[in-house]
Amino acid sequence: MGRTPPISWGGRSTRRTPMIQSLTRQGSFRWVSQRTSSALISSNHGLRTIPTQLHSRKMEHYYSGSSLCSRTTMACQPSRVPQCIHLQALAKYMGEVRGNKVAFDPNKLVLTAGATSANETLMFCLAEPGEAFLLPTPYYPGFDRDLKWRTGAEIVPIHCSSSNGFRITKPALEAAYQDAQKRSLRVKGVLVTNPSNPLGTTLTRHELDILVDFVVAKDIHLISDEIYSGTNFDSPGFISISEATKGRDNISHRIHIVCSLSKDLGLPGFRVGAIYSENEAVVSAATKMSSFGMVSSQTQYLLAALLSDKEFTDKYLLENQMRLKERHDMLVEGLRRIGIGCLKGSAALFCWVDMRHLLKSNTFKGEMELWKKIVYQVGLNISPGSSCHCDEPGWFRVCFANMSEDTLTLAMQRLKSFVDSGDCGSNHDSGRQRPRKQFLTKWVLRLSSTDRKSER
Ligand SMILES: Cc1ncc(COP(=O)(O)O)c(C=O)c1O
Repeated sequence: MGRTPPISWGGRSTRRTPMIQSLTRQGSFRWVSQRTSSALISSNHGLRTIPTQLHSRKMEHYYSGSSLCSRTTMACQPSRVPQCIHLQALAKYMGEVRGNKVAFDPNKLVLTAGATSANETLMFCLAEPGEAFLLPTPYYPGFDRDLKWRTGAEIVPIHCSSSNGFRITKPALEAAYQDAQKRSLRVKGVLVTNPSNPLGTTLTRHELDILVDFVVAKDIHLISDEIYSGTNFDSPGFISISEATKGRDNISHRIHIVCSLSKDLGLPGFRVGAIYSENEAVVSAATKMSSFGMVSSQTQYLLAALLSDKEFTDKYLLENQMRLKERHDMLVEGLRRIGIGCLKGSAALFCWVDMRHLLKSNTFKGEMELWKKIVYQVGLNISPGSSCHCDEPGWFRVCFANMSEDTLTLAMQRLKSFVDSGDCGSNHDSGRQRPRKQFLTKWVLRLSSTDRKSER
């Protein structure tokens, strides 16, 4: 294994985005600088390969469309673009992704530069500096940046555990609320990610009801980040908060949905996201704030055309989910053969993998030791649970959608050799590993939870 070149299951800096890879393969976007592909398999982020294989031709078709390239469009300021075209298309697409069980009003949508900007904007709208949002653990590591850095808001964890599959419970919500009060933090709301990053699960109807009852009882807000809404590839299904609150009085003004095309369509570089809210004050404030993170007029035209193509979106959603399921099942089965279990997932791009039995000690130090071995000896970059604020050491997030089947097979072979070697628990740092350590650049290490501690 010492001779195997390292494989990274993540790492933006060493690879082209899937969309660019795909478009360059198709012959367009030749101006994009060509980089050599890295040997490090990166499975710690949700950039997508699967969807771009599905829509790159369509994108190329619409990209070269006359409206997009016309002088008027190019000269247009984003605010002058007839946003209603794009918003109507997006609202319709949101309904389709949710099985048309709920209809979305384009007037209640605010376009943002991805879900990152949508989440931050909601924080600015709903919380003053020093006020708090409750988030179930484990959660997407980017929230520490998106929700806190510029807004001054605080995150208080809702501690979820493996004992019930990391489900949200009433006592856990209440305990988080009490924790915030002990820290003299005023709680302004709860933020959930559904489907979940990093768990790959969907919230049950029961959990959604508990959440809704809780925010009503405490007179606070509920943000549902539904960036993975189009990825539900298996049962149980995905229930949007919009469906769960349908017909309930006195609730719509406190529910806010975040969506984005970064994951479902594999377009993180296009920076298209949105806030959907029935709260007029939020829509009005967020619209004003969206001036600081506009989506270019060209992007809006392109995506309006793509999303309005119902024949394409219908086929795309089905095919994408089918391919995600195949890849997910391949990972779960491969890990099972190595004796590694996963939390049962049915959506998103991740598996929440249980490697507790491979830890040298049942501590976060033990988790970091194992993570480093997996990076340096196995050549796989996966996310340690501590980077997602998981309370229990030994869980790891593995992304299965950002690589080819061959790469996934190779990753599994390497992991198997590592587990079979029985070296998982040992702590020696042999000379053989040193060159690889030098080879791996700083960005891999930056993903460690210790570094994240220095973040606010
Ligand atoms: C739960 C969640 N929210 C928000 C984001 C940010 O998405 P975007 O690229 O649309 O800003 C991500 C990205 O991984 C995510 O997983």
